[in-house]
Amino acid sequence: MVVTSTAEPYLPDTDRLPALAEAAAGCRGCELYADATQVVFGRGPAAAPMMLVGEQPGDVEDQRGEPFVGPAGKLLDRALAEAGVDPARSYLTNAVKHFAFTRRGSRRIHQTPKRSHVVACRPWLAAELRAVRPAVLVALGATASQSLFGPSFRLGQHRGEVLHLPEPAEVDPLVVVTVHPSAILRAGDAREEMYAGLVADLRHAAQLLD
Ligand code: URA
Ligand code: SF4
Repeated sequence: MVVTSTAEPYLPDTDRLPALAEAAAGCRGCELYADATQVVFGRGPAAAPMMLVGEQPGDVEDQRGEPFVGPAGKLLDRALAEAGVDPARSYLTNAVKHFAFTRRGSRRIHQTPKRSHVVACRPWLAAELRAVRPAVLVALGATASQSLFGPSFRLGQHRGEVLHLPEPAEVDPLVVVTVHPSAILRAGDAREEMYAGLVADLRHAAQLLD
């Protein structure tokens, strides 16, 4: 028998955000829950016109239980402010809701989630999309993009475009794809140029709201 990892059985029969967040805390849809401290569900108002999707919680997020509160989150906050995006009108979440890591001594090293984790966790993201129904959706990085568009999606080929989710879709936001803030933190000499690219893409997304 093939056992497919999926969050599906853990979803409540409502799309209200507080109920979703509560149910996600008990998700055992893939093995990532076992070593993580807690689930990190999305954060923001259900009426947010913009949703931003990252990869998965990092070390700080795992400890605090909130998305984008570590170094990548600080960079994202700064970029959103520069782009003129109101954080109070944005919903922030991740493609995968538990932190995946390997231990090296006392340090926990982030691991890119596997495709199986992304697929398993996809029902939570789908439920958040139904709950928030954002007008504009921003995918931050390859993992978020591939959660939305499938594994053969190449971020670099679609930056600067306005996309729609693949059919059949339950919601139809205007979608923009851009780099992940963590990639900027790792970028060395290319950092400023990549940061400027992120701000430009977020500004583009903000303009789509008008
Ligand atoms: N990186 C992400 O993709 N999400 C977070 O919540 C934090 C860092
Ligand atoms: Fe469930 Fe997603 Fe956590 Fe896996 S990563 S246990 S699917 S919430």
